[in-house]
Amino acid sequence: MSEEYVLQLQHIRKEYPGVVALKDVTLELKKGEILALIGENGAGKSTLIKCCSGAVIPTSGKIVVNGKEFTSMTPQLAAENGIAIIYQEFNNVKELSAAENLFLGRPIRKGIVVDKAAMEKEAVKAFDRLHIKIDPKTLMKNLTVGYQQMVEIAKAIQQNAQILIMDEPSAPLTSAEVESMFEVVEQLRDEGISIIYISHRLEELYRLSDRILVMRDGEYVKTLITKESHTQELIQLMVGRELTETYPSRGDCVKEDDVVLELKNVTGNGDKNISLKVRRGEILGLGGLVGAGRTELAQLVFGAAKKESGQIFFKGKEINPKSPREAIDLGLALVPEDRKRHGAMLGVSIKNNINMPIYEKNSTLSVIDSKKEREIAEKYQKNMAIKTPSLNQLVKNLSGGNQQKVILGRWLAADSELIIFDEPTRGIDVGAKYEIYKLMNDLVEKEGKAILMISSEMEELMGMSDRIIVLAEGDMTGELSKEEFSQERIMAFASAANVEEV
Ligand SMILES: Nc1ncnc2c1ncn2[C@@H]1O[C@H](COP(=O)(O)OP(=O)(O)OP(=O)(O)O)[C@@H](O)[C@H]1O
Ligand SMILES: [Mg+2]
Repeated sequence: MSEEYVLQLQHIRKEYPGVVALKDVTLELKKGEILALIGENGAGKSTLIKCCSGAVIPTSGKIVVNGKEFTSMTPQLAAENGIAIIYQEFNNVKELSAAENLFLGRPIRKGIVVDKAAMEKEAVKAFDRLHIKIDPKTLMKNLTVGYQQMVEIAKAIQQNAQILIMDEPSAPLTSAEVESMFEVVEQLRDEGISIIYISHRLEELYRLSDRILVMRDGEYVKTLITKESHTQELIQLMVGRELTETYPSRGDCVKEDDVVLELKNVTGNGDKNISLKVRRGEILGLGGLVGAGRTELAQLVFGAAKKESGQIFFKGKEINPKSPREAIDLGLALVPEDRKRHGAMLGVSIKNNINMPIYEKNSTLSVIDSKKEREIAEKYQKNMAIKTPSLNQLVKNLSGGNQQKVILGRWLAADSELIIFDEPTRGIDVGAKYEIYKLMNDLVEKEGKAILMISSEMEELMGMSDRIIVLAEGDMTGELSKEEFSQERIMAFASAANVEEV
C-alpha cells in the first residue's frame, strides 16, 4: 500500500438492474493535489464519487482512506475520515441562516439550547478563512448560488475535511462566481487538502488540476498529467472518437420576411422595453450576464410571467398567453434552464417523458398509439445519444446530463414552431453538445423552425447564432450581426448598464 495516496478506490464495481455503472474502476488521489474527473454523461463519475460518501454502496471493490480499508462507506464514516462531498444540488435549508446551515445536523449547544451566537461566531471564522464575506445571519434563500456554494465549502472545511470532492461545482455559477470558487479551491489545495473536481468544461481542468482521470462507459480509461496533455487527446479518450469541429455548420436558411416571433416594447418581469424579431430558419442568440433578465424575458413570452406593457406577435398575430399551457397550444416551447425543477418527471420512464407533450395535445384521444410512442422516443434517444439500457428506464436513474437530454427531447417532440432554449448545453458533455447543436441546426434548416437561444457561454453564442442580442439589467443594450461577433463587443454590451458589484 502506498503512503503517497490519501484516497484509493480499488477495482470498484457497481451494478444496477440492467446497468453496470462502474466496472473495475481505480482512482488514486495524492495529498494536496487537484484530480479532475471527466467523462461523457453517464460515464459513472457521480456514481464513483458517491461510493466515497456511502450514498452508493459498491457491488465489489475497496475504498482505502489514509491506508484504512473499507468495503463501503457510510456518511458518518466518511465524515470521520475527513471526506466531504459537494453535490451539484446542495443539501441546504433555504429558510435557515448561513450559520445554521454550516452547523446543520450538529448544532453548537449551550446546555440544551442551540447557541446561535456561538455558531455565528464560528461561521465568521470559517468564512474568513476562505476570504469570503457572508453575514452568517443571512438566510440561505437570500444568498446567490455562488455564496450558497461557498457555505457548503466552508462547512466541509469547518468539519475538518482533508478530502474535498466537488461534482460539477461550476455548472450553476456566473463567471465571476466561478473565479472566486477557483481561488478558494486553489487556496485549499495549497493548504494540503486533496480535491477531486468533476466538470465538463475542459478549460477549467487545465486551469485547476494537476492530473486528469478519464472515464468512459463505466470504465477507467487513463490518468493524464494535466501539463502534458492536450484537449484533442482528452476528448478522444473521453468520447472514443476524434471530434475536430465544435460547431456543426449550417446553410443560410433565414427567411428574412417570415417573422415568427416579434416583441414590441415589451416590459414586465424586470425587463424594460424589449423589441426583437426572430425569423423562420433563424437562431437568435440572447447574451448577457447571469441576472440580465434573459430567463425573465423567456418567461414573459411563454406566459409564465405577467407582461406589463408592449406587444408580442406570433406569426403576425398578437398573442397574450396567460399560461405556459396556452403558449404551448399556440406553438411555442421553452426548454427551461433549471431542468431539475421545471423539467423531468423523475419517477416516470424516458419514453413517457419524451411523449408528454404529445399526450397533452391528444388528450381527447382515448387510444395512445404505442408504436408511434416508441418511435418518437427512439428517435430522440438516438439523436441525442441518451445513455440507457431501455426506454422504460425511470428518468431518476439516469445520470445528470442524460436527464437533461430527455427534457430537450421532450420539447423537441412537441413540434413547436418557436423554441426558446435557456442554456441548452449546461452540464452536457462535449460529444453530446455537438449532437445537440446538430439537432438545433436541423430544426432551423430542415424543419423551418425559429430558435431563441439564451446562453452564457460566449463561444456557444457566437458559434450557433445568426444574430445576437444582449441584455443588461433588463435593458436591451446591443445587437450584433454575424460579421460583428466578438467576445469583447458582447462583454461591452453585457456590462453596459451594469457596473458589476463585488
Ligand atoms: N439508481 C440507479 N439505477 C439505475 N441506474 C443508475 C442509477 N444511478 C446511476 N445509474 C446509471 O449509472 C450510469 C452512470 O451514471 P452517473 O450518474 O454516475 O454518470 P455521470 O458520469 O455522473 O454523468 P453526468 O455527466 O451526466 O452527470 C448511468 O448509465 C446511469 O443511468
Ligand atoms: Mg454526474
